[in-house]
Amino acid sequence: MKTDAVSLLKADHKKVKALFTQFESAEGRREKKKIVAEALLELKLHAAIEEEIFYAAVRRTVGKELMNEADEEHHVAKVLIAELENMDGRESHYDAKFTVLAENVRHHIKEEESEMLPKAQTMKLNFEKLGAQMAERKQQLLDSGFPPVGEETMVAASGGEGDSPARIADQTGAARG
Ligand SMILES: [Fe+2]
Repeated sequence: MKTDAVSLLKADHKKVKALFTQFESAEGRREKKKIVAEALLELKLHAAIEEEIFYAAVRRTVGKELMNEADEEHHVAKVLIAELENMDGRESHYDAKFTVLAENVRHHIKEEESEMLPKAQTMKLNFEKLGAQMAERKQQLLDSGFPPVGEETMVAASGGEGDSPARIADQTGAARG
């Protein structure tokens, strides 16, 4: 298995895309929740190592436009992840929220693989070393947990009020998923 930074990111992408596909054909609530939990953990690990290590290393060369867009896609993903983590899986908008997260991430992966990564690869960077740092950081996060995420604080502070479509649907007694 290749261990350079770009190969690691691509392997992560493959893993989450497979989980998204599994979710689409999953039927039972329990199975869906299990897939969602696995995908959220993968995405959180992936976002952390990208932001802390990879993005930081390639930002200047890749350029502001692509990098800022990637940042915003991470932000949206982190809001949806935080909301999903506060749900029990029976809410009317649970499946829709995960589906939109998956669509956002699929789009993000496409842009990374077609634009950001090829640009980054033109750099004279030690991608093996960067990959080793990323793998090490991932293990550290698994062992000792994640640092605080701003989007989690934001979602928690709104007490569910910020998620207007889901709140209205559940208040008006729309069918729970
Ligand atoms: Fe990313």
